[in-house]
Amino acid sequence: MNAIELMIEEHKLIKRMLTVVRSFSIKVLNNENVDYSDFNKVLDFVRNYADKHHHSKEELILFKRMSEILGERIAKGPIMGMLTEHDLGRLFMGNLEAALKKYQAGDDDSRVDIIANAIGYTDLLNRHIDKEDTAIYTFAQRSLSKEQLAEIDTLCKDVDTEATKNNLQDKYVKILRELEVIYIDSNK
Ligand SMILES: [Fe+2]
Ligand SMILES: [Fe+2]
Repeated sequence: MNAIELMIEEHKLIKRMLTVVRSFSIKVLNNENVDYSDFNKVLDFVRNYADKHHHSKEELILFKRMSEILGERIAKGPIMGMLTEHDLGRLFMGNLEAALKKYQAGDDDSRVDIIANAIGYTDLLNRHIDKEDTAIYTFAQRSLSKEQLAEIDTLCKDVDTEATKNNLQDKYVKILRELEVIYIDSNK
């Protein structure tokens, strides 16, 4: 599997977590008895797997090389758009964390901010991932040379090997599965 194919596989895991987040948010909306601390597991997954691991391969390797090689029109257009969406995702997660703290301190109204930021994030990321899968990544594969793509593969492989040493992928697949059992499987 090359670097881009692996990133598409990572998107599938991230999208599964987005489905969990939506289901979780609906339970919050219905005032069901949910364990709000599970949102901390979501935050951990989003920040350390989706953002630190996956987005940093995009920001520091793939998108960086695309910007350098394909020029300013690409760097300031579609790539800038993707980076802005990564930032917006971080804002949603920061707001979600703040709303969770307020709720846990006794402010019941904060549930609306939990839902708003959680759902805002899932909408943003679902669209973002679709754009990458269907436009940005395919454009990279079409526009970069074999050698340039091979260089990206090598750089990403280093990141993946290091992450594997730290059991990062296994850890976050496990968290995802745990949450799916609670928020998805139980609804079937
Ligand atoms: Fe991205
Ligand atoms: Fe991505």
